Amino acid sequence: MYHSDELREWVSSIAGIPVFPTPDGDQSSLSLLCYREAGDHINWHYDHNFYHGRHFTVLLSLANESPKGGVSKSKLMRKTSKGEESIDTSANVLVLFEGAKVLHRASPTDEGDLRIMLSMTFCTDSRISPLKEIARRVKDTAFFGLRALWD
Ligand SMILES: [Fe+2]
Repeated sequence: MYHSDELREWVSSIAGIPVFPTPDGDQSSLSLLCYREAGDHINWHYDHNFYHGRHFTVLLSLANESPKGGVSKSKLMRKTSKGEESIDTSANVLVLFEGAKVLHRASPTDEGDLRIMLSMTFCTDSRISPLKEIARRVKDTAFFGLRALWD
């Protein structure tokens, strides 16, 4: 699905510019984000764009449930000049944004929550300078360990 022309063309039409999957060697190209333990979260950050062109993140919510019913307590939040805003990530919702320009986070889950997000990244130009390639691999070690340096 990630490499399909259908998805690439659809994301391009929404972004308003032709996009392509980021290289397979980029550990962030396609990831499954699983929030299963109480307190699982990702702090405020921008997605770093190592590529020459623009870089988009697509999040597809595969599961988002609380043992009490409804969605988990973990929210996708973005910070704007007007304050913080919560983005709907109910199951089957897809969110597309330019992560290098949007300050965002996933707030902590509660006990028993389950939130699974399929994260896909697309870029307009997959060229990368040698120095940025090293920086990208070093960043990946934070999530995937030292093997990210040579994978
Ligand atoms: Fe992010």
